[in-house]
Amino acid sequence: MGSAEERREELKAVWRHAQSCTRCPQLAATRQTVVFGSGNADADLMFIGEAPGANEDRQGLPFVGQAGRLLETLLGEIGLSRADVFINNTLNCRPPGNRDPLPQEIEHCQEYLFRKIELIEPRLICTLGNFATKLLRGDTTGITRLHGREEIRRIGPRRVRLYPIYHPAAALYTPRMLEILREDFRRIPALLALDPPEQPEPDREPEPEPLVEALAEPERETSQLGLF
Ligand code: URA
Repeated sequence: MGSAEERREELKAVWRHAQSCTRCPQLAATRQTVVFGSGNADADLMFIGEAPGANEDRQGLPFVGQAGRLLETLLGEIGLSRADVFINNTLNCRPPGNRDPLPQEIEHCQEYLFRKIELIEPRLICTLGNFATKLLRGDTTGITRLHGREEIRRIGPRRVRLYPIYHPAAALYTPRMLEILREDFRRIPALLALDPPEQPEPDREPEPEPLVEALAEPERETSQLGLF
């Protein structure tokens, strides 16, 4: 697509656009912040969780509660930190009462997610749990069958290596699941070291309508810089 700097600039434009999103009226009415994602805008490794919870909604950052601390620990064990990767969710907004995301909400938000993938250009995407795995694979096969099995999939214009693993929240209170998650995590460095998936020929069709058209909103650089 463009240089890392150009892609980051475009990501910031998508971020600004998402700040005032009202595609899901209930979520827009109940959220405190839009949790767009954080980390390295040019990361080789992306994590996709489910949806922000109460802590994330308050702080505007993904995975800052208990599950996030476990994610950080597991990252540390393979020599990575949050700053090396990009972390986001299938939904940018918290479902009230931490209910499951609704199919329509996932559909509304997927354009943001796919645009983030297109702009960040990760080589490896770890889907955390069922919601992200089902969305990115486009079928209903569950995480119990799929965890730890990498595959190459086309997501929008790019081919990406997908690696479904258990959601850290599921491993918090189940030692056996934590063991499996840890084992799956240990394979991440080797997967990152593989050649990146070969990319398809660019489509000759006209570009899709941009998600971000006129940027009427003023830049809010200060809060943005901490995110990515
Ligand atoms: N925090 C997030 O940001 N996402 C989850 O899926 C769980 C906790």
